[in-house]
Amino acid sequence: MTDKMDLGNLTSPLNLALILVIGYVVIELRDFTPKELAEFNGIDGKPIYLAVCGKVFDVSSKPDFYGPGSMYENFSGRDASRGLAKNSFDPSVLTDVDLPIDKLDNLAAEEKNSLEEWFQFFSGKYTCIGQLVENK
Ligand code: HEM
Repeated sequence: MTDKMDLGNLTSPLNLALILVIGYVVIELRDFTPKELAEFNGIDGKPIYLAVCGKVFDVSSKPDFYGPGSMYENFSGRDASRGLAKNSFDPSVLTDVDLPIDKLDNLAAEEKNSLEEWFQFFSGKYTCIGQLVENK
């Protein structure tokens, strides 16, 4: 005969609080397709999101960098990875939002390093709110 499981531990206030916190984090991280992400470009007061290395960051707090008419507006609502890797804000460097996600497998070693540094920069400065997934 096995002992009955002790449910008392699972329902302790601390465990319930932990379950709520974990649930909140899981719910808050949502998937964005490239087409969905493109909506969040700061135009008409919308939030400003961009993706780096598959993660979506909320950069709405810096409209002077990413808002309409700003220096880095080309990254807003887009997967910015290749532009950051190549230190280019030329919009043609970025993959069209209708196409499959850029796999970034043909970058030079120094471009990969540059991208990794930018990823660390965005992770440290901005909130990650989701991940980039393929268009449906
Ligand atoms: C024309 C040459 C450039 C100048 C004069 C310039 C200037 C600046 C300045 C003054 C900042 C703010 C730094 C701070 O807040 O401490 C900045 C940030 C930044 N620059 Fe540039 N930049 C140049 C080129 C580029 C290029 C080619 C890229 C493309 C990858 C780029 C991407 C960024 C990004 C992503 C930020 C971070 C903005 C943030 O804090 O979220 N910059 N740049």
